Amino acid sequence: MLLSTLWRLGLSGLFSLASCTAGAAPVSGYAFQSADTQALQDDPFMNPGMLWVDAGKALFNTKAGAANKACSDCHQTLEGTADKFPRLNPRTGALVNLTTQIQLCQLDQQQATPVAYESQAALALTSYVGHASFGRKWQPVTDPALATYLQRGAAYFSRRKGQLDLACGDCHVRSVGKLLRGDMISEGHSNGYPIYRLEWQSAGSLHRRLRSCDIGVRAEPRALGSQAYIEVELYLRQRAAGLSNETPAVRR
Ligand code: HEC
Ligand code: HEC
Repeated sequence: MLLSTLWRLGLSGLFSLASCTAGAAPVSGYAFQSADTQALQDDPFMNPGMLWVDAGKALFNTKAGAANKACSDCHQTLEGTADKFPRLNPRTGALVNLTTQIQLCQLDQQQATPVAYESQAALALTSYVGHASFGRKWQPVTDPALATYLQRGAAYFSRRKGQLDLACGDCHVRSVGKLLRGDMISEGHSNGYPIYRLEWQSAGSLHRRLRSCDIGVRAEPRALGSQAYIEVELYLRQRAAGLSNETPAVRR
């Protein structure tokens, strides 16, 4: 059933990568990219995602809003910051990811209009703060206050849905290493986001990627920055524990 659905999607090729990943330590999506794409990611001067990191740095140091404050007026050390997300915002109690935390700071601290979720400015600031933790290993989620959200994210991951009736794991656990429309299916990890995707000719967020995956099985995608996707993001962070932060990763 699963195989025939995937066959209709154009799935082909059996790669040995699948056998060496099952049940073992997580493998970054980097390992499933071509040598050219890997080389582009590895060279900080060639990696196009670094343009967003640099733009983010400039924005981070620019005063804005009615409060006329720059992010850097309140935040100095950024290393390790990205590792904490998603988490509950200490003031509002809402589940936030790095991008929606940044939006909160713009609204409440800078008294400015928050950047739209997938805007260049949002990608730039998120890339800058994300890259400040480059190379750090992702830790498992331990905060008990996040348990319910984590469970919901895991349920989203394992639920079959869409016209094709596929769960995330049908591809990212059970079809790892196979080819689907020119992409080699990886384990679906989130450790390099925001990424630069050659097909998009742009940086893009994890939530944009999740929308592509949901649309791929012809399910109704959730909104960028939605609680449902932040819950999935939390579960993905748990799954990726032990992988290094590769922001900005480069993808086909
Ligand atoms: C029909 C197969 C399929 C399903 C189902 C699917 N994806 Fe994907 N997904 C892909 C393909 C193809 C890619 C691009 C190649 C890759 O990195 O795996 C991808 C990429 C990703 C990536 C980016 C990996 C990276 O290293 O950049 C993440 C994260 C991801 N998927 C998560 C999910 C989640 C969460 C779900 C369920 C909501 C899901 N996917 C459902 C096929 C699928
Ligand atoms: C006037 C001070 C102030 C400004 C300006 C400000 N923030 Fe914040 N920021 C905070 C406070 C206070 C918190 C604690 C969480 C909260 O209250 O939302 C925080 C939390 C954060 C966090 C989580 C940090 C951590 O280690 O827990 C990030 C990331 C962040 N802000 C990014 C930004 C960015 C990006 C900007 C600029 C667009 C910005 N902030 C502007 C005060 C500020």
